[in-house]
Amino acid sequence: VPSTRKAISIYADGIFDLMHSGHFNAIRQARAMGDRLVVGVVSDEEALQTKGIRPIYTEQERGELVSGCKWVDDVMVGTPYAVDMAFLEKTGCDYVAHGDDFAPCADGSDCYAEPRAAGRLKIFKRTEGISTTRLVSRLLMAAENMKEESPTLEPPTSPTTSTHYVDWSLNSDRASKQSLMSTRRLMQFINQGRKPQPGDTIVYVDGSFDIFHVGHLRFLQQAKATHGTFLLVGLYDDSTVAAVKGVGFPVMNLLERTLNVLAMKVVDEVLIGAPRKVSEYLIRTYDIHVVVGGSILDELSLGKQPGTDTDDPYAVAKKLGIYRTIDMRCGGEEGDEPILTFRDIIRRIVDNRMAL
Ligand code: CTP
Repeated sequence: VPSTRKAISIYADGIFDLMHSGHFNAIRQARAMGDRLVVGVVSDEEALQTKGIRPIYTEQERGELVSGCKWVDDVMVGTPYAVDMAFLEKTGCDYVAHGDDFAPCADGSDCYAEPRAAGRLKIFKRTEGISTTRLVSRLLMAAENMKEESPTLEPPTSPTTSTHYVDWSLNSDRASKQSLMSTRRLMQFINQGRKPQPGDTIVYVDGSFDIFHVGHLRFLQQAKATHGTFLLVGLYDDSTVAAVKGVGFPVMNLLERTLNVLAMKVVDEVLIGAPRKVSEYLIRTYDIHVVVGGSILDELSLGKQPGTDTDDPYAVAKKLGIYRTIDMRCGGEEGDEPILTFRDIIRRIVDNRMAL
């Protein structure tokens, strides 16, 4: 910031429930509107009251994932849905930023009426073709196809507010709008080209990282904190994910998964379309010092015992003595949060729908 000008702080808020590249792109755009970004994560209570939906993730989990994002300087958890000038003052920010969609309060009024009137509202472009509603539909469909026992997921007979989230008509016009991905978007998400430096310990973690959630983030953070200084994430291509997890997977395609992983501070580099088997060629090409198998997350979400795959994808790394695991409880301390899996997410969606 030039010394002649005061640093501008931006406040951007949302529910940020099932995080997708549209949310991360919103955060990226909001950050670019100032010098510092504070993100408000709307409370569970306010989300239920204004949108009539119970978030899948708790406000703490949503806050933790948002704070893992590289464009976020500060996070406020449990914020109100409507932003008035008194609240904006409290955040210490100069402006509030929101997408170009109208955000109505429970009574239909403009949630940003006061900052808008005061010239303190900044608008960025909402990202087309991606929404939580569509993702939940895809997620439930994928869960139906899971080979293993899964919760009962009958489509509702009549649409009610409790099914607000679920768009069962995947052939509708809205659902057929594809997420339009360009190389420009990819470029906007890429790191400033941080290359491994001499002295860096390169940790390789692979997996599907579908529907990126706080469990994935904890896993990545722990892999880097415990085993190295430069984190290279290998993302399986879509057909590999389908082979590992079953029909209907991945819920997010390779490019969407790439953007989500790239949005994380902890990630230094992404291998787009990684092989399931970690070969010696891969290890040598990327100078990998340590391999941490992320596919245990996939195994857990399929209800399998980790490490029971007969065709071990980490056999080479094990032979080279560079294979490491991490404790599946974040931090490994009693009372620490366990890592979330896909099954937990489906269970929550079903439970939430039944509770409403
Ligand atoms: N946002 C966006 N593009 C999307 C989805 C959301 O730019 N495809 C922006 C919203 O405009 C808002 C912020 O992300 O500024 C947080 O949105 P949030 O309240 O979490 O979600 P929704 O707007 O309800 O979107 P979705 O249904 O996808 O969760």
